[in-house]
Amino acid sequence: MLSAKDSAGRDCGCIINTLEQVTSTPMRISITVNKANYTHKAIMATGEFTVSILTESTPFSVFENFGFCSSRDNDKFAVYDNVPRGANGVAYMPEFVNAFISGKVISVVDCGTHSIFIADVTESKVISDEASLTYAYYYEHIKPKKSTAPSAPGAPKRKV
Ligand SMILES: Cc1cc2nc3c(=O)[nH]c(=O)nc-3n(C[C@H](O)[C@H](O)[C@H](O)COP(=O)(O)O)c2cc1C
Repeated sequence: MLSAKDSAGRDCGCIINTLEQVTSTPMRISITVNKANYTHKAIMATGEFTVSILTESTPFSVFENFGFCSSRDNDKFAVYDNVPRGANGVAYMPEFVNAFISGKVISVVDCGTHSIFIADVTESKVISDEASLTYAYYYEHIKPKKSTAPSAPGAPKRKV
């Protein structure tokens, strides 16, 4: 889960699956973010972000909150009583997280619909030894499966 503060200091965030290590000396990472996401706007404004590494026990509700609606019109952190913050002041996930990594943007690559933010790692902390959630695990075990029941004869075809 990628989090940031907008230019007014409001917490925002979204699910991403595009964090990568770029270099190790100095430690640099990249994240790829859709320009339509509110979190993109916040990172463009402040140059700071934090990525919380989710664990396999993360419930689908976390994805509904952070991955399927926008911080533009939702306070996604309102569901948490105490939101922990790193040294950059950016909130990170208080649960279902085994580590967080904070970044300070040094370069933005314009990729059309998305930007790749390349950042210096300013802080990182291991929180638990629970297994990290992969995209494959999310699809196999967390995302609800579409019903495969055949339609009744004569029923209108569903758009999928
Ligand atoms: C499993 C999953 C992976 C995602 N990966 C990315 C990603 O790598 N980059 C991105 O920009 N959005 C990604 N998204 C979509 C954003 O999380 C989503 O558009 C979110 O609602 C944007 O919220 P915001 O407007 O508050 O920033 C992903 C969503 C899911 C469910």
